[in-house]
Amino acid sequence: MKPSTALLALALTGLTGLATLPGQAATTIDSLRGDLPITATEPAPDPFKYINDKENIPRNFKDQPPLVPHTTEKYEINLKENGCLKCHMEGAAGKDDDEEAKSVPMSKSHYVDRQGKKHNKPVGNRHFCTQCHVPQADAEPLVENTFQALVKK
Ligand code: HEC
Ligand code: HEC
Repeated sequence: MKPSTALLALALTGLTGLATLPGQAATTIDSLRGDLPITATEPAPDPFKYINDKENIPRNFKDQPPLVPHTTEKYEINLKENGCLKCHMEGAAGKDDDEEAKSVPMSKSHYVDRQGKKHNKPVGNRHFCTQCHVPQADAEPLVENTFQALVKK
């Protein structure tokens, strides 16, 4: 046997050795695609339905940005405007003429900049609300889990 062939033989034994490790060869991987072959096209999943509820969603840990209990795609946030402020500005909330606007105002923290200076409008680092506040889809968890909230509110 030439040295190169010997090396190849050794490498091959190494590989087969790996493939037959106890417990490994028999394992079948249960992927999220189920038993659909890789070559088959899976139909697109149903689009998420975002929950639209007047009730706030309990927080899971202290200082968590609360989850948004309503859809957000209607409310534009760009350099010039921020649709969320219509209802969540201090003062906007609870307006009698607009039933919808009876929502919690943003906390005081949203008016304080990095230097600790208070402003009369939300500061720049709070402008893009959905960076921290995300809406929730009414989706089944992909895998079973035993998650429990750290706080009850
Ligand atoms: C038409 C009025 C309206 C607009 C616009 C609006 N919201 Fe709301 N929002 C509500 C109402 C009503 C609730 C639920 C009741 C409450 O918390 O007062 C709510 C609740 C929330 C909460 C939960 C507060 C908590 O303490 O749990 C968050 C966070 C929130 N909205 C973020 C947003 C963001 C981000 C936007 C923009 C993308 C937005 N909202 C636009 C009316 C509005
Ligand atoms: C950098 C992350 C961040 C951004 C951006 C942000 N928030 Fe928040 N928000 C938080 C956190 C954290 C809390 C909970 C702690 C607190 O109240 O300060 C909160 C709390 C709130 C609450 C609940 C107040 C209460 O008293 O229950 C509302 C409503 C809210 N934010 C709305 C908004 C809106 C509207 C915007 C956009 C103008 C926004 N937030 C931008 C992090 C953020």
